[in-house]
Amino acid sequence: MEKPITVVILAAGLGTRMKSRQAKVLHRAGGRCLIEHVLATAQALTTPERIFVVVGYQADRVREAIQTPGIGFIQQAEQKGTGHAVMAGAGVLSGLDGLLVILYGDCPLVRVETLRGLVAAQQSSGAAGAILTAVMDDPTGYGRVLRDASGRVTGVVEQKAGTPEQLALREANMGLYCYQAAPFWRHIHELRPDNPAHEFYLTDMVEILDRAGHDITAYRIDDPREVLGINDRVELAAVDRLLRERKARQLMVAGVTIEKPETVTIDPGVSIGMDTVVEPFAQILGSTTIGDNCRIGACSIIRDSELADDVQIGPFTIVNTSRLEHGVEAGPYARLRMENHVAAGAHIGNFVELKKTSFGAGSKAMHLAYLGDSQVGADAIVGAGTITCNYDGRRKHPSKIGAGAFIGSNSTLVAPVEVGEGAYLAAGSVITENVPADALGVGRSRQVNKPDWARKRRELGQHRPG
Ligand code: UD1
Ligand code: MG
Repeated sequence: MEKPITVVILAAGLGTRMKSRQAKVLHRAGGRCLIEHVLATAQALTTPERIFVVVGYQADRVREAIQTPGIGFIQQAEQKGTGHAVMAGAGVLSGLDGLLVILYGDCPLVRVETLRGLVAAQQSSGAAGAILTAVMDDPTGYGRVLRDASGRVTGVVEQKAGTPEQLALREANMGLYCYQAAPFWRHIHELRPDNPAHEFYLTDMVEILDRAGHDITAYRIDDPREVLGINDRVELAAVDRLLRERKARQLMVAGVTIEKPETVTIDPGVSIGMDTVVEPFAQILGSTTIGDNCRIGACSIIRDSELADDVQIGPFTIVNTSRLEHGVEAGPYARLRMENHVAAGAHIGNFVELKKTSFGAGSKAMHLAYLGDSQVGADAIVGAGTITCNYDGRRKHPSKIGAGAFIGSNSTLVAPVEVGEGAYLAAGSVITENVPADALGVGRSRQVNKPDWARKRRELGQHRPG
């Protein structure tokens, strides 16, 4: 029978080299905090009730960032080393049988396949533990794996503590482990801070268990890149690029065309249907879902929104928390600011902003308009320059435009106000009263032409052309 797995994620450190006021694991790459990536991987290995995060620096903020219910937290008030971090959880964790997998909160690229390999290496060898290692061209900074003449792993020596001969070894400790819980907890109290840094090194467990007569096996991987921790912002950017590449590749394999995929930013929670085309520099973020056969224009930003099939988003368009039904066209340069519903076949053109607006099927607002807190029926025309005055300085008010209405250019609708179905507004109107269905609303003074006015002015010398 498979042994239950407990996962401990070390995330108490500040990460000095990030040069940040924010804990390292809260920095974002690939659309999530670093710790969220590690948690997602951990959840593929075990249940949330068996996942524990060691927090210390900005503990409250790290806890807040972790939304998954059931995850346990261990407080490490002072950061006195990786061994000390695990010891902080001994009270809770040592009661859990089976296997103990230890991960770092700042290693977001680790794949669950690699962890399964590590667990399998421990299981098949019967050793008390398996440590993940890789042979590196330049292992500077890493712990080096020590072996005896027969090749048995006997310890790990840290960069700061190694002799020149030890530091010449190229097999590096990647810092991920799978231990049998029972011997691990039996011996953890033997860790001592007897090193130049006066820290409790988790790595010393290898030598401690070896001395107690247990075997430790090394699970060696060929490519150490996926277990590289992030230490500074240059590495953060490199990991972000890698995670974005992974997501873009997944989508392309599933039938999405992505033009210049190295330029797009697509969050892990996004889904996109077949034959949709994503143009360069698009950003598709949060929990957005996009249907089949859509086009997402260059430099558009779509966040937490739902796009049905055949939706066309022109370049430089921003869509936030909105739903666009089948065949909608929006942009270029449109802004669907928040909580809009745009019904099937509607068109939203350039420099049109919608906020908390429901826009009817087949309706059009093609240029330069602001519709806030509005309800627009089907097949209405909203002319260029239409503005809903939805805010009186204190409160927001709704505007209603009935189905088939025609709103002449440069109309101002002072909310709350209703324009009935099929009604017509004269261009340039300021509408402060409701307009009944099928009526014409004119809200401007009549034009006056004054004959010869301009000529007379010229003759009086008041006008000097050029
Ligand atoms: C560790 C290993 C080293 C290995 C390297 C791989 C030790 C002593 N050394 O070194 O052999 O090659 O990882 O990356 O373990 N943390 C805490 N509390 C603490 C200290 C650290 O939670 O008191 C957390 C950090 O937030 C971080 C992780 O543990 O996520 C690793 O700590 P770090 O200081 O980066 O260890 P390394 O020096 O990289
Ligand atoms: Mg490190």
